[in-house]
Amino acid sequence: MTVWIGTSWKMNKTLAEATDWARGLGEFLAGRELGAVQPFVIPPATAIAAVAQALAAEPRVLVGAQNAHWEDAGAWTGEVSVPQVADAGARIVEIGHSERREHFGETDETVRAKVAATLAHGLVPLLCVGEPAAVKDAGGSAAFIADQAARALEGLAPEQLGRVLIAYEPIWAIGAHGRPATTAELEEPFAALAQAWGEKVQGLLYGGSVGLDNAADLLGLAPVDGLFVGRTAWQLDGYLRLLQIAAHL
Ligand code: 13P
Repeated sequence: MTVWIGTSWKMNKTLAEATDWARGLGEFLAGRELGAVQPFVIPPATAIAAVAQALAAEPRVLVGAQNAHWEDAGAWTGEVSVPQVADAGARIVEIGHSERREHFGETDETVRAKVAATLAHGLVPLLCVGEPAAVKDAGGSAAFIADQAARALEGLAPEQLGRVLIAYEPIWAIGAHGRPATTAELEEPFAALAQAWGEKVQGLLYGGSVGLDNAADLLGLAPVDGLFVGRTAWQLDGYLRLLQIAAHL
């Protein structure tokens, strides 16, 4: 079973910082056996090409994009397309992160269109789902995320679904204002995701306040195939520690 260990840098890092991080990862990995661990890194769009280039000698690391438009090209000022991020070196496209849904008008419909475009160009969609605190408090987490996933993946053929990654990222657990989820809190939502999608997609990941203290426990949850990490992995040391935890190095 593949264990996905990835990070999104969100809106952070200059080109120099991005390149340093990527070179450092390449140096760490050179000649090192990773077992089942699949690393990936999702820089801001400005740094995709530089990170891909810095990791050119280490093709085991997948580079991704944090967003891409559903159209291939055209009059869409400020957007980048799937072919463009692929040209820059991305092999994964993150879609539907809660920060994009909340601040940039991402809807189930645009998420669905972006998943389809990503698959059409042969890249891996990393679909993010997650419920707000109020939904969790009302006991609706599992139904909410199962519904989000169903809307995003509607109509896909089995072969297409087989290339999709789903990251469950409860909104209340993400970022500086989030609180780490306990493994007990994640059992029911992950059971629902696993029942609906576990056999069909490439993997189910967890994200939200993943740290060095809880990573092993989170990876120990049966349906969890990997971790999608923000703050802890923005410094290379943190990311390397996560790789070591996942690979039992
Ligand atoms: P944090 O790990 O900083 O909570 O961010 C998680 C996340 O949103 C990854 O996409």
